[in-house]
Amino acid sequence: MHDVRAVHWDDVRNVLVLLDQTKLPAHEDYRACADVDAVVDSVRRLVVRGAPALGAVGAYGVAVAMNQASREGWDDARLQADILRIREARPTAVNLAWGVDRVRPLTSGGVAAVLSEAHAIVREDQAANRELSRIGADWILARVERRPVRVLTHCNTGDLATTGWGTAFGVIRELHERGEVEMVYADETRPLLQGARLTAWECKRQGIPCLVQADGAAASTILRGLVDVAIVGADRIARNGDTANKIGSVGVALACDAAGIPFVVAAPSSTVDMSTPDGSYIEIELRDGSEVTTYAGVSVAPIGSEGLNPAFDVTPARYISAVVSERAAVEPDGVTSVGALVGE
Ligand code: MRU
Repeated sequence: MHDVRAVHWDDVRNVLVLLDQTKLPAHEDYRACADVDAVVDSVRRLVVRGAPALGAVGAYGVAVAMNQASREGWDDARLQADILRIREARPTAVNLAWGVDRVRPLTSGGVAAVLSEAHAIVREDQAANRELSRIGADWILARVERRPVRVLTHCNTGDLATTGWGTAFGVIRELHERGEVEMVYADETRPLLQGARLTAWECKRQGIPCLVQADGAAASTILRGLVDVAIVGADRIARNGDTANKIGSVGVALACDAAGIPFVVAAPSSTVDMSTPDGSYIEIELRDGSEVTTYAGVSVAPIGSEGLNPAFDVTPARYISAVVSERAAVEPDGVTSVGALVGE
């Protein structure tokens, strides 16, 4: 089985290469991004998606912008505007801006300095994912009695959403490697089906038993006692632990609360935004309503219907049993800072 790399830098062609996730699971196609328009379009259309993967794209995107500037006649003002376009291509996942901001001070050192830092971000992300997966698996096994464990997850948080291994899905992989996973319930994740198309694909690759269910089935599956723990990733974690993640996550958290089972968030420290006091300050991306009213280009609502399409929701910290990063597992109360997740 070959490695899946959602994001990588091709040294020979000197371009950013993205696995085109809009085409999965039918096709495994790659898109080379040699200019800023291609990077911004890939982020907006979800060719690449998932908070940690977007962090790497932010960093490599700056290198793409610099290469383009070299080709087209260096103009500092235009370069800064291009970098800003990448930084703001999607608003909710803090990792995108974080990745840009981490390499931006290095642009004066040339593209090699930026690329070297971007590669470091990738290495750190992979190491963080392994570590947070161990911490998350330990936390779950210490609190859930049933063996093996039945896990529900929402959206996609594996190789495809990161630079390797995964966050919430990384915890599932760690549990699976320990022989402790009976079943993964993967919410299909309307409207773009990251659960059905991507998480089920990753489960299959890893040999992890998986049932894809409609998002509307999640609460019932939980209340019927078929799930021991739910685990999701994050796009931004505020200082008090409130967490933005794929639309539908808060419904899963409420069902877990009602059923008395843990709801766990797993994310690297790069997803923790200590400058955001609580979830009310998180900007939620509003996507085109046509993503909801159509499916694969075919209308599923009466012609002329308008769709409401927030891409994310915020789960209040009080409904989160634990937030796990590579540094710690924190049980947030909604008031106390979750700074331990970033080593504070
Ligand atoms: O719109 P997407 O597919 O970028 O949303 C992704 C999610 O909500 C993920 O759960 C989150 O980014 C964590 S990825 C490890």
